[in-house]
Amino acid sequence: MEAAGKEEISVEDEAVDKNIFKDCSKIAFYRRQKQQLSRRATYQASLDSATTGKDSTKFRIINETTKVPLLVEVYGIEGNIFRLKINEETPLKPRYEVPDVLTSKPSTVRLISCAGDADSLVLADGKGDLKCHITANPFKIDLVSEEEVVMSINSLGQLYFEHLQIPLKQRATKENKEDTSVDASQEDQEDLGLWEEKFGKFVDVKVNGPASIGLDFSLHGFEHLYGIPQHAESHQLKNTSDGDAYRLYNLDVYGYKIHDKMGIYGSVPYLLAHKPGRTLGIFWLNASETLVEINTEPAVKYTLTQMGPVAAKQKVRCRTDVHWMSESGIIDVFLLTGPTPSDVFGQYSYLTGTQAMPPLFSLGYHQCRWNYEDEQDVKAVDAGFDEHDIPYDVMWLDIEHTEGKRYFTWDKKRFPNPRRMQELLRSKNRKLVVISDPHIKIDPDYSVYVKAKEQGFFVRNHEGGDFEGVCWPGLSSYLDFTNPKVREWYSGLFMFSAYQGSTDILYIWNDMNEPSVFRGPELTMQKNAIHHGNWEHRELHNIYGFYQQMATAEGLIQRSKGKERPFVLTRSFFAGSQKYGAVWTGDNTAEWSYLKISIPMLLTLSITGISFCGADVGGFVGNPEAELLVRWYQAGAYQPFFRGHATMNTKRREPWLFGEENTQLIREAIRQRYALLPYWYSLFYRAHVAAQPVMRPLWIEFPEELDTFGVEDEYMLGSALLVHPVTEPKASTVDVFLPGSNEVWYDSKTFALWEGARTVKIPVALDTIPVFQRGGSIVPVKTTIGKSTGCMTDSPYGLRVALSTKAR
Ligand code: NOJ
Repeated sequence: MEAAGKEEISVEDEAVDKNIFKDCSKIAFYRRQKQQLSRRATYQASLDSATTGKDSTKFRIINETTKVPLLVEVYGIEGNIFRLKINEETPLKPRYEVPDVLTSKPSTVRLISCAGDADSLVLADGKGDLKCHITANPFKIDLVSEEEVVMSINSLGQLYFEHLQIPLKQRATKENKEDTSVDASQEDQEDLGLWEEKFGKFVDVKVNGPASIGLDFSLHGFEHLYGIPQHAESHQLKNTSDGDAYRLYNLDVYGYKIHDKMGIYGSVPYLLAHKPGRTLGIFWLNASETLVEINTEPAVKYTLTQMGPVAAKQKVRCRTDVHWMSESGIIDVFLLTGPTPSDVFGQYSYLTGTQAMPPLFSLGYHQCRWNYEDEQDVKAVDAGFDEHDIPYDVMWLDIEHTEGKRYFTWDKKRFPNPRRMQELLRSKNRKLVVISDPHIKIDPDYSVYVKAKEQGFFVRNHEGGDFEGVCWPGLSSYLDFTNPKVREWYSGLFMFSAYQGSTDILYIWNDMNEPSVFRGPELTMQKNAIHHGNWEHRELHNIYGFYQQMATAEGLIQRSKGKERPFVLTRSFFAGSQKYGAVWTGDNTAEWSYLKISIPMLLTLSITGISFCGADVGGFVGNPEAELLVRWYQAGAYQPFFRGHATMNTKRREPWLFGEENTQLIREAIRQRYALLPYWYSLFYRAHVAAQPVMRPLWIEFPEELDTFGVEDEYMLGSALLVHPVTEPKASTVDVFLPGSNEVWYDSKTFALWEGARTVKIPVALDTIPVFQRGGSIVPVKTTIGKSTGCMTDSPYGLRVALSTKAR
C-alpha cells in the first residue's frame, strides 16, 4: 500500500466522527428556509390566465414579497400520476433539471378543466376520478380522489423558491438594487450562507448564489410513511419535529451510526404513504442536497363528554406533513396516486424503470474480503469451499488486486496471471468480481489517466483545471460520468481487448462513488467543482454514482456484443439505479444491532425500486463472534444480495474457520439459499417485469391490516415466504407475527401449522432460521445442491406446496 492510501485508511479506522458531517443546523439553505418561512410570505396564483395545452396546464404564481413570478405546470401522466413542475418564469440562467433518470418522456394525458374562475381551477384526468383543485390565494393544490382530498400541496405555505440573482458586487456596479428576495445585511449574509458557506476549514463559494427550493405536502388520513433511502434507520419514517430532518446527500460514512437520519452512500428522493385502502407516492426529482421533514398529527377522537354530541361525530383524521427542501434545481415532483401498493410500484417503475434481471449466478453466495492477498490465496479459499462442501458462486477482489489502485490493472506480483485464476474459477462454473472506483490516479504513466486527461474527461475545479482530490491511490482526478462521452469511453474500457487480463467471467463492483474524496468537505467533492455542461457539482451530487454504474453496466453489455446480462454492484445510487444492477449498504459493523437494522434498511431500498440489495454478511468493520456470524449468514441467505465481506486488518472469517459446528450451520444456511434459487429467480423476474419488490415489508402483502404497518423484524420474500431472522444473541425463542386472519402458515422446517393474525413464540436453536410458508402457495426449489449455481443446471426441481384453509 502506498503512503497516501495508508494515511487515509487510518482516518477510516476510527468509529464515525459525526463532526466530519453536517447536521441540519450547519446547512445554510435549511437555516434560510426556516427563517424565511417563519415570515410566512405567501404565493398567489393568476388562474384567470391559465392555459391548458396538450401536455400540461400552465399558470403563474407570484410571491407577495419578492414579486418574482414562477411558472407552474401541472401534467397528467398515464397510469394515475400527476407531475408538478415549478420554475422561475425567466431565470437569469437555466436551472438544473435532472436528466437521464426518467426512462423516457412519460406519456401525458390531457387534463380537462372542469370548473374554474379567478379563485380556483379544477383539473381532471380523462376518466375524471382524480382531480386537482387549485386555489389561487393563497396558492395551494388539493388532490382529490372520489370526492376525498388525499393530499394537499402548499397548504402550510412552505413553498419556497430562491430566484437566481446577480451577485451583490455586480449589482452595486449595475445599480440594480431593487432585488429584495433575500433581504439580508452583510452580517446576516454570512450566517445565511448566500454566496459563501463555511464548514470547518472549508469554504463553499457559490457563484450562482442562493437557489434553494422547498414545498410541503399534507397527506390526509396517513400516518405511515416509508422510503427516502439511504439512512440507517427504521423502515417506517419517524417524526422529525424534535430532531434532524432526513438528509439525502451521498456520503462515505465508514461504520455509520445507526438510528440516525444523516445521509449515507445513496439517495432515492421518493417516499410512500400508506393507510388501509390507499397507498400514495411522492417522487421529488432533484439531485442536489435534499432534506425531508416529517410531521404526523395523530387523529383526535373527541368524546361526548368533552365536546358534546355534534363534535363527537367529527373524528378528526390524522395527517402527515412532508416538507421537502433542496439546495438548488427546480421543483419537479411526481404524485403517484396508487391506490394499491402494487399500483404505486407500477407507477414509479413507469417513470424510473424496473430492477435489471440479474444473471442467475449473482443470486448465489458471494465471497469477498479486503483483500484476498494473491492468486494463491484465491485458489486456497476457492478450494476451501469445495473441501467443506459449501456452495458459492463468486470470488471478489478489492482494491489491492490492482497496481497501486490503478483500476483496470493487476498487481503483477500478487496476480501475475489473472486469466489462469479465472480459468480455475470457470472450471467450477464460478465468477470473479473486481473493483473499479471513479477516482483515477494522477500518474502520467497510467494510460487510463493519460487518455482521460487528454480528452478533458475529468470533473473540473472552479478555476478550470482538473479537480484533484485524495482517495486510495493518493492524488486523483475524478471521471465526469455525467458527460455521455465519458460514459461511452469508460464503457469501452471493459472491452476484453482493452481490459488486459479480463475474461467473460469477470464482473464489476463500483465503490467510493458518492464520490468519496478523503480531504474534501464531508469527505466528498467540493460543491463548486464543475461538470459537463458547466453545471456545478452541487446540482447533481446525488446522481454521480448512478452514472458510474450506468456506464459500467453498459460496458459489460457492449463487451458481449449485447448478449450479456451484466452484474454491477454499486455503493452510491439514485432513483433509477435499479436498472443497472445491485446496491449494498456499505460499511456496516460486526454488531448485533447492525444485523438487526439491515432488515429495515433493505426493506426501504426494496420498496423504492431497488430490489437487488444486501448488507455485508458478518459486518464489514470489526470481528464478529461465531454466533453473530452464523446468525448473519442465516439472515443473508434470505436477503436478495448475499455477500460476506470484511475490512482490512480483521481476522479471517471464511465459513470454515469457526469450528465444525459453526461450519455446519453456515453450510446449511447457504445450502438453503441454493435450494431456493428457482424461487429467487422467479421473484426477480416479477421485479423485472412487474416492479414487484423481492423482499417485502408485511404491509405490502397485508395492506388492510394495521398490525403489519410497523413490522420490521420480519418480512416476506415474494408473497409465499415469511422470514423472521434471529437477530439477538443467545436467543431461545422468537416472537413471530403471522399476519392474515384468513391465512395459515407452515413452519418450513417442521411443517407445523399456525393460524394467521397472531404472534407465536417459536423455540429457536442455533440451527433455526424461522421461515414460514403461506398456505395456498407453491415454492419452486432445487432438490440437489451443487458447488455453484452453474453446476446446478441439471439438478432436479421440486415444488413445496402449502395448502390453504380452503383445501384443508
Ligand atoms: C469501501 C467499501 O465500502 C468497502 O466495501 C471496500 O472494501 C473498501 N472501500 C476498499 O475498497
